[in-house]
Amino acid sequence: MTSTLTEPKAAKAAKSSKPVIVLRNIRKTYMMGHVAVEVLRGISMTIDPGDFAAIMGASGSGKSTTMHIIGCLDVPSRGYYWLDGIDVRSLTDEDLSKIRNRKIGFVFQSFNLIPRLSVLANVELPLTYQGVKKQERRERAVAALSATGMSHRLIHMPTELSGGEQQRVAVARAVVTNPSILLADEPTGNLPSHQSAEVMNIFSQLNAEGRTVILVTHEEDIAEHAKRIIRIQDGMVVRDTRSLPVDALPPRLDASSKKTASRPISARLADGSSPPHGLLLNTDTPSESISRDSK
Ligand SMILES: Nc1ncnc2c1ncn2[C@@H]1O[C@H](COP(=O)(O)OP(=O)(O)OP(=O)(O)O)[C@@H](O)[C@H]1O
Ligand SMILES: [Mg+2]
Repeated sequence: MTSTLTEPKAAKAAKSSKPVIVLRNIRKTYMMGHVAVEVLRGISMTIDPGDFAAIMGASGSGKSTTMHIIGCLDVPSRGYYWLDGIDVRSLTDEDLSKIRNRKIGFVFQSFNLIPRLSVLANVELPLTYQGVKKQERRERAVAALSATGMSHRLIHMPTELSGGEQQRVAVARAVVTNPSILLADEPTGNLPSHQSAEVMNIFSQLNAEGRTVILVTHEEDIAEHAKRIIRIQDGMVVRDTRSLPVDALPPRLDASSKKTASRPISARLADGSSPPHGLLLNTDTPSESISRDSK
């Protein structure tokens, strides 16, 4: 497993690891009647495994459209997109949905939980789509909910939860399939600040485990949780600023999580592995410690 790697080897391997997302000159045009509206006008970006990037920009600048393309929920009108080295244009709809299911977890501003299903059933749902058997489904959903501090609300309905709690359930649902990439479009947009902080610490922990996190936000202090800020204006990247290396721990990782984060992230990334079932936390409190040792 990853623990057999010496640190220099691991760092070297992480450096030479291939980008997980490469967008080149992505354009997106919508037809509004007879008028073509150019929403993306040549977006290029490269994201390495383990990066934590925040996408910022004014309303209507094309952030969500970019995220939908990255998440294979939409296709570009022109340009190239390689996801884990695969040219996404070569994939059928079926392949796309498989890849989406396997590699990508989504978190949306509006939580998007199914109101008539319990918390547990909501989180089990992506595993049901994958054909995972009932008992494993349950165990993995409980583990993911436990990691986001929600295991005390398994049989509650979404309407019986606060906004922050609903978002923590949505994060559990996004990671229960163990995706290597987590995409979040304004995940704290509907939350009061203390709940935003809890949700952001979960994203930091997920990134500290080696997952690639891309987050859209309007708020500078939310973007400061990331290692890199990509600014979009009128469908183009106008600035791309990195504050920390890809394999550093995320800047706002909770202090107690940092203390126990003994193993360099590069070691986990080196062999391309990611944690088995969602977060590796065996705690019910999102701000509590995180073990980065391989299991
Ligand atoms: N399906 C669509 N048909 C036509 N125009 C669209 C469509 N989806 C998005 N747009 C337009 O594309 C532009 C970019 O939309 P997008 O949702 O990507 O913006 P955004 O940066 O996420 O904005 P916000 O911060 O308000 O969420 C907007 O002007 C929007 O009206
Ligand atoms: Mg948007």
